[in-house]
Order: sequence, then structure tokens, then C-alpha cells
Amino acid sequence: MVSWGRMLVPVQLGARSYTIVVEAGGLAKLGDHLRPLGLGSKTALVTDPVIRRLYGDTVTDSLKSAGFSVAHVEIPEGEGAKTLAVAARCWDELLAARLDRSSTVLALGGGAVGDLAGFVSATYMRGMNFVQLPTTVLAQVDASIGGKTAVDHPRAKNLIGAFHQPRLVLVDPLVVRTLPEREFRSGLAEMVKHGIVLDLAYFEEMDAGVPRLLTRDPDTLERLIGGSCRLKAGVIERDPEEKSDLRFALNYGHTIGHALEAVTEYGRWTHGEAVSLGIVAEARLARRLGVASADVVAQQERVLTALGLPTRVGPIDVSAVVAAIGRDKKARDGRIPFVLAPAIGTFKLVYDVTADDVCAALAEVA
Ligand SMILES: NC(=O)c1ccc[n+]([C@@H]2O[C@H](COP(=O)([O-])OP(=O)(O)OC[C@H]3O[C@@H](n4cnc5c(N)ncnc54)[C@H](O)[C@@H]3O)[C@@H](O)[C@H]2O)c1
Ligand SMILES: [Zn+2]
Repeated sequence: MVSWGRMLVPVQLGARSYTIVVEAGGLAKLGDHLRPLGLGSKTALVTDPVIRRLYGDTVTDSLKSAGFSVAHVEIPEGEGAKTLAVAARCWDELLAARLDRSSTVLALGGGAVGDLAGFVSATYMRGMNFVQLPTTVLAQVDASIGGKTAVDHPRAKNLIGAFHQPRLVLVDPLVVRTLPEREFRSGLAEMVKHGIVLDLAYFEEMDAGVPRLLTRDPDTLERLIGGSCRLKAGVIERDPEEKSDLRFALNYGHTIGHALEAVTEYGRWTHGEAVSLGIVAEARLARRLGVASADVVAQQERVLTALGLPTRVGPIDVSAVVAAIGRDKKARDGRIPFVLAPAIGTFKLVYDVTADDVCAALAEVA
């Protein structure tokens, strides 16, 4: 699969199939990757000011030398971009640049840029070509893969959206070298998650690669980010629209993690930090329920600690966390599916978890 420093991960979804290209320095070769796709000549590059300054010229030059025109659409940094007002401004700019259904929207940025630009491309003229150029670890291994696009509703994140698969995901693992440290480490939590529920060998590779990962060694980034993309892509292929239990596996650490984020109003931890805490708490839960051994719990906690991710929650209103879990979007008929890991590389859905079990698990990680 790996050849000349380029990893190609095919995502087989019938007519909507596409490739995830993982390539160090790949952004400069974007034009070459787009040419075979038979896209129209017009593109719009959606990005935020920070990323535009860092990588905008590289992408623009590559697009232009491959014969594409480029309209630049700048959106605010971070979650604030995921609104209907920002989407409406993007639609206006696509129209002003005369983009049509054969044109392509490219999202250059983190998950927020990807979600917003994806939503814009899913809705403009009932859907146009979309390309993901993810620049955070989280976006590279998670948000850019799977075709979920969204804006936020004032009452809930990601409430308004559509499934819209990209034509290409181009992951340049070198760009994460400019991420702030906390942002970088947060993304690693999703990679650990993929290993825990899907693949023991990958988990062990992560474990062994921690020191080189933390210095952001290019080869290590390429190998481990690429490996994580492959794991997520495997899930998407088998369950593209979240219709089976499989996709729940990706929710590991998130049932408790999301609740922790909600009760602290998204202010205490980054998403990845909350996922790290969620993983530790859900691992404890699995041991309490007799699903996993203490050793399996310790393995997970050890890797997260080595990556500098939090494993203790500190003072928290446990009853508020339990109440927030009760409002989980993934609830089916009022029952909350907990993803648990009986051993590294496997998962199991458990519905009959009581509030007392959750409280006890949270107390263990207080
Ligand atoms: N669609 C999905 O399946 C999916 C999955 C997970 C998360 N998400 C969404 O992703 C969003 C979070 O994404 P995120 O964690 O990437 O954060 P983000 O998109 O908010 O970006 C974080 C910050 O990092 C900066 N940045 C991005 N790349 C950089 C780089 N290479 N160097 C320096 N700075 C850089 C950005 O300017 C921004 O300020 C949330 O809105 C979440 O809902 C979507
Ligand atoms: Zn997540």
C-alpha cells in the first residue's frame, strides 16, 4: 500500500467511491491529484485567515498550474464558522464567481472549515464537487472522512447538515507540524480511540511511536495518521450512513466525553481531551461491568498519559454528567448505547448501563 511516501486509501462506496491520499508535501501536488477526476475548471477554496496565511499560496499555486481558476472564500476561525449566516455568505460568493455543479469546493482547514464547506457544497445547486484538505490531526483522521457535513443550531452542535461524500481527501501529514501543541495532542486522542476499538496492531504501533509522534517526526506522522485514516475508512465503507452498530465503535470515549464537554460548557477541555477522559471513564466502566480486565484499562490509560492527554477529571458535578448522558444524540428509544472495549482491538455495545455504574466509573477517575 505504501509507495514512494504516498499512501492511498480507497473508500469503496459504489458510485460515490473516492480515495484518501496521505502524502507528505501532498498539498503542493493537489493539482495532479485533481486532474484525473474530470472536474470542471472552476474551484472555490474555503479556508480561515490563519490557514490561508500558512498554506493558501501552496494550494492556490498548485490549482492554477493544473489549469483551475480559484475563488478565495474566507470564513471565521473555529466553531463560529458553522452557522447558516456564514454558509449563506459562501453561497453568495460561489454565485458571484459563477460556480456551477461541475465546479469544486475545497475545504482547507480543520474540522470546522470541513463541516461548513462540506455543507455549502452539499446544498449549493443541490450538491457539487467537494474536496477535503484537512489541516488538523482531528480533521485528518476523523472529520474529513465519512461525508458528514453540518452547521450548528443555537441549541445543539451539528444539528443541521447532510451526508455529502468528497471526491478526494488529501491528507498532508506535514501540515500538522504548525499546530499549537494542545491542538496537536487533542487529535491524537481520536487515533488512540481507533486503535482501542478497531485494531490491536495499530494500537501497539501508536504505543511504540509515542516519543517520535510527540516530536512530530514526518515518517511517524505519515505512518500513524495514514493508519488511522485507513481504520476510519474501513468503518465508513461498511456503514456509510450510520445504519448499523459498527459506526458506534467510533463513538468510544464520546458518550462520557461529550457529556463532560457539555457540563463544562465546552470551556475546560478541548474535544480530544474530553475524549481522553471519556475513554478512561468508559474503560473503568467496562471493568466494573466485568467486560474488560484491569490490564486492558491500564494499557489505555498508559498510552493516553504518555501522549500528555488528561486521564483525571477533577472536581465535577457527577449528577449533571449523568443527566447530560441521558440527552445523548445516539440514544435509541431512550436507551443509551455504550461502546465498551473487552480487549484492545475489539468493541461491544452495551445498553443496560445504570446511572450508578456511570457514577462509580466517574468517581474512579475524579
Ligand atoms: N464531520 C465529522 O464527521 C466530524 C467529526 C469530528 C469533528 N467534527 C467537527 O470538527 C470541528 C473541530 O475540528 P478541529 O479540531 O480540526 O478544530 P477547528 O477546525 O476549529 O480548528 C482549530 C484551529 O486550528 C487552526 N489550524 C488548523 N490547522 C492548522 C495548522 N495546520 N496549523 C496551525 N493552525 C491550524 C485553525 O485556524 C483553528 O483556529 C468541530 O466543529 C466538530 O464538530 C466533524
Ligand atoms: Zn471525536
